[in-house]
Amino acid sequence: MPMDLKGKKIVLGLSGGVACYKAAELCRALTKEGASVQVVMTDAATHFITAVTMQALSGNAVYTDQWDARVANNMAHIDLTRGADAVLIAPCSADFMRKLAHGVCDDLLSTLCLARPHLVPLLVAPAMNVEMWQNPATRRNTAQLRADGVRILGPAAGDQACVETGMGRMLEPLDLLDELIASFQTKVLAGKRVLITAGPTFEAIDPVRGITNLSSGKMGYAIARAAREAGAEVLLVSGPTTLPTPHGVRRIDVQSAQQMHDAVMAGIAGQHIFVGVAAVADWRVVNASDQKMKKQDGAMPSLQFEQNADILAAVAATTSLSGWPFCVGFAAESENLLEYGAVKREKKGIPLLVGNIGHHTFGQDDNTVVLFDESGHTVLPRADKLTLARQLVSEIAKRIEQRSLLK
Ligand code: CTP
Repeated sequence: MPMDLKGKKIVLGLSGGVACYKAAELCRALTKEGASVQVVMTDAATHFITAVTMQALSGNAVYTDQWDARVANNMAHIDLTRGADAVLIAPCSADFMRKLAHGVCDDLLSTLCLARPHLVPLLVAPAMNVEMWQNPATRRNTAQLRADGVRILGPAAGDQACVETGMGRMLEPLDLLDELIASFQTKVLAGKRVLITAGPTFEAIDPVRGITNLSSGKMGYAIARAAREAGAEVLLVSGPTTLPTPHGVRRIDVQSAQQMHDAVMAGIAGQHIFVGVAAVADWRVVNASDQKMKKQDGAMPSLQFEQNADILAAVAATTSLSGWPFCVGFAAESENLLEYGAVKREKKGIPLLVGNIGHHTFGQDDNTVVLFDESGHTVLPRADKLTLARQLVSEIAKRIEQRSLLK
């Protein structure tokens, strides 16, 4: 996987809240992703987690005090953000949001936020009790921060440490990590809606048996993540997989090709882009049994099949005169990819088809793909699936842009 934050300098600010315990894991995740992390804590934060823990995890001295004698020029509030790529406040308490919204600078962290160069993005992860989050004062401060260009990450809903339930939980550390990584990606699909199919399908034979394939869903999930990072609203229709849903992506789970077809057709209206990555079963069992089939004196079961609808072709047939949805297909071929890929693209009636070189890509983290379009084919060199997914997203955006320019 790519080290997405390699070379990035992140100032991680902690304000007071029980979610400080999650900041330790976030700090670890940031450094693992290659970032250099400078932790700054408010006095309240030090009541929830020690500076020693954050120093050990970040590998850098932690600053908590405006009057820190270690800083010879007493300019920590200036120096700490010079050369920084982002300031992330996690957790951000209701009180710290108030300070940010009103330009208050009465401690090191709040002063540093106000004194940061205007090109250094400020991201905040609110963490507070549900009533505090819903209070009109916090709503006003949140709206003000948004208007000031501050990115608000979350919060999430759920059980809270105060034993109440609702909005106000800080996003999980790995979700915050993904949000931060996404903030560095260019928004080539801003305002676009994307529907993606991923994973295998499962065609039942009886209640405990079925026919499936080796697709892991990794490529489709990587494209869903990359499209979201690029600013799109993403709907993922997924066959059975064990993968976590990429942060910010809406997912509908299905089993059979028929269910996948129905979910896609129900969601396709208004989509700008459709990417069919799923390895859809070509056939379903028509004489599937309602009860578990039992062995019968060596007699072999006899399965009868009928062909499933081609989801990609069905979506492509809905393409409007203005070209939406822009349809992208995948092809896994075990031989003659260059020939079969070009033919398959034309047969499906789609502008772009992605061919997997070899069929051994199923379940792997890396892949090599070939893009087929009306002007021929281009090879994207071997890379991890997220890197390829990001390249594919920018190739899609480029083609959409070219089309709009031609109209
Ligand atoms: N696809 C689909 N619905 C199907 C079968 C395939 O939407 N019932 C889509 C896949 O998601 C993929 C593309 O069509 O984007 C090509 O799938 P592939 O299995 O390579 O090709 P098939 O169309 O099934 O043709 P064949 O198996 O004969 O190569």
